[in-house]
Amino acid sequence: MIMEMIEMPKNFLWGCASAAYQVEGAYQEDGKGLTNWDQFVRIKDKTFKDTTGDVAVDHYHRYKEDIALMAELGLKTYRFSVSWARIFPEGRGAVNEKGLQFYENLVDECLKYGIEPMVTLYHWDIPAALDTAYGGWEDRQIVDDYAAYAKCLFKRLGRKVKYWITFNEQNIFTTFGWLLAAHPPGKFDAQKMFYQVNHHVNMAHAKAVLAFKQIVPDGKIGASFAFSPSYAFDCDPKNVIAKINFDEMNSFWWMDIYAYGRYPAFTWNYLDKKGLVPEMEADDKTILLAAAAKLDFMGINYYQSIVCEYNPLHGGVDPYGTMNTAGKKGTTEIKGVPGLYKNPPNPYLMTTDWDWTIDASGLRYACREVTSRYHLPIVISENGLGAFDILEDGKIHDGYRIDYLREHVLALEEAVQDGCDIISYCVWSFTDLLSWLNGYQKRYGLVYVDREEPEGSSMNRYKKDSFYWYKKVISSNGKHL
Ligand code: BG6
Repeated sequence: MIMEMIEMPKNFLWGCASAAYQVEGAYQEDGKGLTNWDQFVRIKDKTFKDTTGDVAVDHYHRYKEDIALMAELGLKTYRFSVSWARIFPEGRGAVNEKGLQFYENLVDECLKYGIEPMVTLYHWDIPAALDTAYGGWEDRQIVDDYAAYAKCLFKRLGRKVKYWITFNEQNIFTTFGWLLAAHPPGKFDAQKMFYQVNHHVNMAHAKAVLAFKQIVPDGKIGASFAFSPSYAFDCDPKNVIAKINFDEMNSFWWMDIYAYGRYPAFTWNYLDKKGLVPEMEADDKTILLAAAAKLDFMGINYYQSIVCEYNPLHGGVDPYGTMNTAGKKGTTEIKGVPGLYKNPPNPYLMTTDWDWTIDASGLRYACREVTSRYHLPIVISENGLGAFDILEDGKIHDGYRIDYLREHVLALEEAVQDGCDIISYCVWSFTDLLSWLNGYQKRYGLVYVDREEPEGSSMNRYKKDSFYWYKKVISSNGKHL
C-alpha cells in the first residue's frame, strides 16, 4: 500500500534523548558521589580505547548552550536521565542539594523554551556506595533505596515534569552486567543472580510507579524497553517456535511485568525447571499487579529487528559470542540459546558498521505488537543511527543518518495510521555522546561535538545536515520528510 505523508497527532512530542553518564561529565563536581560506571571504565580494556565519561561532552557545564540549540531545532521534548549519585552521593541518606538544583535548572531551561522535559530515573549509573554496601541490584534493599530516590525527585520536580521513565533498558543493563560481563558489575553467566536482579528492578519500578501516582497524580510514567521485534527465519514450524521462545524470553519477560504485572508462563516454567526463578516476597505479586494497572505508556527504544531460527540443544550456538565494538563490519558472532533459538543475520537487510540491522519496518512492527498485546500508548524513547561522521569546514554531511531517520519516521507514521497511539519520538541523540563501549567514534547526534577518545578537544558544537532535516520534520509535524 502506498502511504500518504501524514501529519502526526496534534501535540506530538518530537524529541531527542540522552543519558547522564554519556553527556554530563563533571563526574566529581558539586558533591556527586562515584557511580558503578565511574569505577568500571577504569578497568583496562573494558571500553573502546579505555574511554570514560569523566568529561563526556560536558553537558553539565554547557546545558544552556545545548538547550538553546534544541530550541533552535524546535524540539518539543528533551529526554534526559538523572544521575542518582548527584542526588544521593551515598545512594541513600543525605540529599545533595546541588545535585537537585542542577536538574531543576535543566528542567527550567527546557521549560523556558517550551520544551517538555522527560526524565529517566535510571540510565545505568548506580551510586558506587550501594554496590559497596550490599552489592547494589543484587540485594533486596535496593528496592526501597531506589523508591526513596524516585520519591525525592517526584517531590522536587513533579510540578514541572509531566513525563517520567523509571528504567532505561532493564533488559540490556542486566544482560550486559550479569551475563556478558560487558557492563558493571562485570559478571559472566551469573544466571541465577541475573533473574534475581531483574526481580529487584521490577519491584523498584513497581514501587516507584505507585509512589508517583500519589505524588504526581496528573503525570505520566512508563519504562523504556530495548525492544527488538523478531521474525521467524522461515515457515518451518521449528523456526516459528524458535521465534516465540525468543519473544517470551527476551521481550515479554520484561514488558509483561510492566504492563500486566506478571511473568509469562513459558519462561517461568522453563526457568523453574532449571532452578533459576527469582525469590519473591509475599506481597510482590500484588504490588506488581497494582503498578501495572497504573502504567501510562510503554517506552520503546528501537534500533533493530532480529531473526530467529531453531538452535539444537547439542551442537547449537551459545549465548556469549563476540561483540563488535570497533565498527568493523561483520565481526559480530551469531548467538543463541541451545534448545530454544539462535539469531542469524537477515539477508534482506543492510547493517551499520557495528552490525546493527537497519530495518525501519521493524519499528512499525514493534508498535503494532505493543499495541495489540498491551493496548498502551507508546513513547519511542530512542531511535537513531550510530556512524562514523566527518567534520569538514564546520559541516557534517550525514545524508546516511537522514535516510535512516526518514525511513523510521515514515514507518512510525504508518504505525499511527494502523491505529497505534504514539505520543512521542525521540532521536538518539541530540549531541554526539559517549557510546558506552564504543568510545566517541560511534556518533549518533544531530549536533556534532568536537572531541576524540582522549580528552582535550574543543568540545565545540556543529549542526549536522540531519539537524536541519529534523527541524523541517518538526515544523511540518511530520509532513516534510
Ligand atoms: C541504547 C541505550 O541501548 O542504545 C543508549 O539506551 C545507547 O544509552 C544506545 O547509547 C546506543 O547504543 P551504543 O552501544 O551504540 O552506544
